[in-house]
Amino acid sequence: MKITPGMPDALPPGLRNLFYGIFCWANRHPGALRAVGVMLRRWPFVAGWLGMAARASAVKAVLTRPNSFSNTAHAANLSAGDYLIGMDPGATYTADKILLDDRLAVLKATLPAAADLAVQAYVKALQPLGADKSFDLIEDYLMWIVFRAMYPLFGPATDRVAAGATGSLNDPGLQRQYLLEIRYVAGQLLAGSSATLRVQRRAELNADALKSRIAGVRTDIQNAWSLPGHNIDRNAIGLAWISHPVTVQSGALAVQELLGRPNVHKALREEARRLGDPGVWQCAKFRASVRDHVLELMRFRPIFPLLARDVPRATEFETGARHNATCPAGGKMAIWGIAALFDPEAVENSRQFCPARNWGNQADLRWMMFGYGTRQCPAMVYAVEILTSALIGLLILPELQLARGEGKAITYDGPLMSQMRVSFI
Ligand code: HEM
Repeated sequence: MKITPGMPDALPPGLRNLFYGIFCWANRHPGALRAVGVMLRRWPFVAGWLGMAARASAVKAVLTRPNSFSNTAHAANLSAGDYLIGMDPGATYTADKILLDDRLAVLKATLPAAADLAVQAYVKALQPLGADKSFDLIEDYLMWIVFRAMYPLFGPATDRVAAGATGSLNDPGLQRQYLLEIRYVAGQLLAGSSATLRVQRRAELNADALKSRIAGVRTDIQNAWSLPGHNIDRNAIGLAWISHPVTVQSGALAVQELLGRPNVHKALREEARRLGDPGVWQCAKFRASVRDHVLELMRFRPIFPLLARDVPRATEFETGARHNATCPAGGKMAIWGIAALFDPEAVENSRQFCPARNWGNQADLRWMMFGYGTRQCPAMVYAVEILTSALIGLLILPELQLARGEGKAITYDGPLMSQMRVSFI
């Protein structure tokens, strides 16, 4: 049997740790992935031979064939049980998707106002901090803003979900515990099945805690959702871990990218200063420009630079080379979204940071950080609205920098950032 990183259980532990270490390193260094992406695009037959889609045309084509290239590749990473993202199309998928779309419709009515309000409260709290005090952009800002902005997903049951069946409502300690619990479960989505056994064990423990938390507050959720007949547990567990941590992490990645581009940061701050507060919250043109920046920052640092698919039946796909690549039944595909986002054939001046780029007939590619086709993230517009509010808040605070003199400003936990300490200049 050929042993590959796609079958982590078959690998000796040392090799497994090595592959996971390389994967985490690559996720933290999107520039390295982009460089490999250049090769894969240039020699698409090599990409095809390795079971990889890299050109924008190839990535789009693979992601629009969900029956040939299956989302079940996520299943091994879903430590809290099955959910939409890991299902094949079918009756369960359709019913769960309708439930999710109903929950998201509530966000449509509350965003961006709810996100703006949450941000304004945190901006007020952070404003008095001097230059000598650092704070954690994840735990002291993004984590709470996203929590508040996504409150309607569980509606009146939100505080009970966060506190657990017996906890005191509105206890920030319990809320923090909940937000970390879902973070460890969500972290597994990024190649969790090949993670070290310690990381897997932690995710399993947190997944068990999340499952019993949801079981304990099932009636509250059922009442909030007014859905007696549905599988409440599966949908509530899935929605809890898939919604919050990914958005927080994407926000941190966007800020990391922005801080590495002082000129872009300066220009945005200058515009925010000119508009002042409350002008920044009222000017639609400014909001649209910040939204464009969020999307462009995410293009450079997507949280899912690669996506995996199972290949249930033997098939082939168009790589862009002269001949199609064959995919044997039972194999896997790696989809290089990050290479597609920088494909010069599809994206004008693809290597330049250009939030105002005219995407022309490739406008759909612009959202590739959220996947593509029928399985594209159903919450992408809402997530970007929340991150836009969060970024506007940071632009009206004193200028940020990564904190110095306290060891590393960024702490990683596997492929994700667990801490990003920043301070005002
Ligand atoms: C910035 C934040 C987010 C990013 C970058 C993101 C990214 C993604 C990506 C790349 C996919 C496609 C996965 C694939 O094709 O294999 C996806 C799917 C999904 N996302 Fe998001 N997501 C974000 C926020 C959210 C939020 C807030 C929710 C829920 C409220 C959510 C719910 C889902 C669901 C349910 C799917 C599976 C859809 C399906 O398979 O039909 N995501 N997301």
